[in-house]
Amino acid sequence: MQPNVLIIGNVTKDVYLRLDNRSNNFEEDSHHVKWLDLAFNGSTHEYFRRVSVYGGASISLEVLTRFGLNASISGTPATFLDGQFIAKDVKTTYRYILCQDDNAVYLNPSEATESTWSAPTKRPDWIYIDASAVINQRLAGEIGAYLDLNNETRLCLVISKDGEQDIAKIIPLLKRANLVISDRELKNTPDNFILVRDNYIEYDGQRVFWSLNDKKDLFTKLSSLLTIAASVFGALALGKDSGEALLLARANVEKSSLNNTTNLANLEREIADDYYRVERFDKAEEAASEIEQNTKKLLAEGKGILAADESGGSIHKKFETMNIPDDEQHRRDYRNIFFTTPDLSKYVNGIILFDETARQTADDGKTFVEFIKDQGIIPGIKVDQGLESFKDSDEKFTKGLAGLPERLTEYYNMGARFAKWRAAFEVTDHSPSENAIQTNCEILAQYAHDCQTANIVPIVEPELVYDGDYPIELSVEYTGKILDRLFAELAQKQINLKACILKTNMVLAGKKYKEQTSPADVGRYTAQVLRQHVPDELAGIVFLSGGQTVEQATDNLRAIMSNAPFPWTVTFSYARALQDPALNAWKGDNANADRARQAFKERLIANCDALKGENAD
Ligand code: 13P
Repeated sequence: MQPNVLIIGNVTKDVYLRLDNRSNNFEEDSHHVKWLDLAFNGSTHEYFRRVSVYGGASISLEVLTRFGLNASISGTPATFLDGQFIAKDVKTTYRYILCQDDNAVYLNPSEATESTWSAPTKRPDWIYIDASAVINQRLAGEIGAYLDLNNETRLCLVISKDGEQDIAKIIPLLKRANLVISDRELKNTPDNFILVRDNYIEYDGQRVFWSLNDKKDLFTKLSSLLTIAASVFGALALGKDSGEALLLARANVEKSSLNNTTNLANLEREIADDYYRVERFDKAEEAASEIEQNTKKLLAEGKGILAADESGGSIHKKFETMNIPDDEQHRRDYRNIFFTTPDLSKYVNGIILFDETARQTADDGKTFVEFIKDQGIIPGIKVDQGLESFKDSDEKFTKGLAGLPERLTEYYNMGARFAKWRAAFEVTDHSPSENAIQTNCEILAQYAHDCQTANIVPIVEPELVYDGDYPIELSVEYTGKILDRLFAELAQKQINLKACILKTNMVLAGKKYKEQTSPADVGRYTAQVLRQHVPDELAGIVFLSGGQTVEQATDNLRAIMSNAPFPWTVTFSYARALQDPALNAWKGDNANADRARQAFKERLIANCDALKGENAD
């Protein structure tokens, strides 16, 4: 017995109108947008082709019937008989699909109506909700209740961004589904998930590429998805293995034409040809390689990473000392100076942004994230939410883990590919304590884990604060201790060190200490501490400037680099030592912007030069 399938979906009547460019008068408005007055009567416009076919649920019915399944559309007498879709007494809604060159525009003149559902008298083996279905919360509840009572009936759910479904309304069904097919990645992807992209189908560690070639204009995205989804589903319902199901779907979408999908026997002959191939892939490995590749790009030789991510509080302090109004416009204009500095991509591989900046726009209307990306620079984001005191001490831990996975997903979708999290350790007679070190390193490791899960490269930044009264020996001791703890915690969380960057302080005496460390000693001690406490597999180390003077940060960097080679890439990721001269030149007045850019560029050039490690004192 072939499985019984009850389809829930809407039947549409798709009218394809292929416009003939040569004989239609497009009017162009002042924004160079072309407009066409459409009457839909065929007399005022010339079409290369006008085709009207059934679409939506009729495609699922056709494919499944041609696969030999006993399929019907819920609440309708629709059948597919002798190669014909019989739509007598079936409610259909019109869709117009206007094709011009390679573009297709969809017009739905009437509101999509809710799909019909009535509990079936004969229990189906499968309920198949296709991408044409319009399901509200009540309907989702009724279908869910039916499934609860008939738990042998399985559910396949097809979701499309071009369809009418509102995902929020069908979440309970999504959780219950035995098979989910979608053209977009879903949060909390279910186990049996089939992803249908514009050029490939992915399921069970296998991928099959497909293409419509020249029939693009007459086969809409939705009808391709419906054909692919019903084919994969039909094959799996018949007990075919996953690879074969993907191949049958590819053959069906490539060989079919409108209202004429192919039957199973022909498709089986088709896929016997080795032109139809399945490629195996490992998602975790691919994800790893994406972040590993981004890490390599962030550490490309001879350049640094700009930290333009000062929080609201830090910017406020900076602006206050110079009497610059601390409003959104001034903060945006200040950041804009750095991002619009000519040849920026010659000096930096990445820029770390603060949340507010990531949402602001450049002069050309693009978001800063896009604007940076378009220059070939990787946008990053500070994701910690600042420091908080421990209950019983004056030491601090860094907050921001709550909701971090969701925020990282949002930042990834915005275009950010790396993140930063800073933990700060002040040196006093009683700190940093074991507890502060342990807690902050655990938090850093959890953050790194969340980043790598979201395909974002983590920069882990434990900073021994320079602003203190302590000798270099204490910096050697504490920096080493913190790094040991940090890498133990990262190992515990199985962080991929090839996709992770350490941002750290240089090893030097505190700013208030009576004797300042010479660049030669900073170079020697820093190189020594890092070699002793940082695993070789780590991708890279970048330095913060930590309140050193602009020249000091450059001289010390040069001195460190004169101790190369290192097992990791080493470079700079300064905020203050790159930006302060520009802030002083800008003074809050955009008339000084060019001078500010020049001052910034001088620091970029000097620090990139220091990376060569030549002529160190
Ligand atoms: P500074 O270079 O000003 O120390 O800033 C670097 C940084 O990113 C601190 O988190």
